[in-house]
Amino acid sequence: MKGKQVKTLIINTHPLYGDNNHFSQKLMKLFIEKYKENFNTYNLEILNLYEQDIPVIDKNMLTMWAAQATGLKLDDSQKQLAKRQKELLEQFKNSHRVVIVAPTYNFNITSKMKDYMDNVLIARETFMYTEDGPKGLMTDDYRVMLLAASGSINVQDGRVSPIEFQNHYLKTAFCDIMGFDSFHIVRAQGVALRTADEVMMEATRNLDIEFKKFYQ
Ligand SMILES: Cc1cc2nc3c(=O)[nH]c(=O)nc-3n(C[C@H](O)[C@H](O)[C@H](O)COP(=O)(O)O)c2cc1C
Repeated sequence: MKGKQVKTLIINTHPLYGDNNHFSQKLMKLFIEKYKENFNTYNLEILNLYEQDIPVIDKNMLTMWAAQATGLKLDDSQKQLAKRQKELLEQFKNSHRVVIVAPTYNFNITSKMKDYMDNVLIARETFMYTEDGPKGLMTDDYRVMLLAASGSINVQDGRVSPIEFQNHYLKTAFCDIMGFDSFHIVRAQGVALRTADEVMMEATRNLDIEFKKFYQ
């Protein structure tokens, strides 16, 4: 894989980003080590959501969008907001590999990640509405990988899986709405049930497999 240049964006959704006592952060560290082993050049950017200005959908945002849609002049604060949203969108669209580092909280993504999604799930930018439903605009071999840590073990018994919004939502939003080619998931799972070594051994094995598919 040496020499491949596509840009990778790591979106770290953990409030305690960088604290390697946390399993999602350990997974992220492993991912970066693997990246460095495999590529000559470092074309990887890390976005720690909890240290960044990630605009939220509030009164300001809705008025700014309405002004943009009707061609009204933006005021200074709306201009700032539009600028930040454009930066996030450009960074996202320029990254053909997106890695989401995520603790599982109440079966879901963290609220900052939801805010982030609200800045990139933008009609006519990353997808469009058609008579046949949404159609993805990010179709040029974009791929997404979720590095997820969870207390429990993912069981496909039909009882818990419908509420596992974290992976269902991300897979659907990225692949079915925005048009990403593939969704990869590596779990550090069962941290409340197994030893840290057991959790990380399984995660490391799966990361090896998924990493190859992610970049091949
Ligand atoms: C507020 C909160 C909610 C949680 N909800 C879930 C959950 O829905 N499912 C689950 O498997 N684990 C849940 N857990 C456990 C975490 O997913 C687990 O501790 C995981 O390792 C967190 O990632 P981290 O180690 O990177 O911090 C929750 C933990 C917290 C603090």
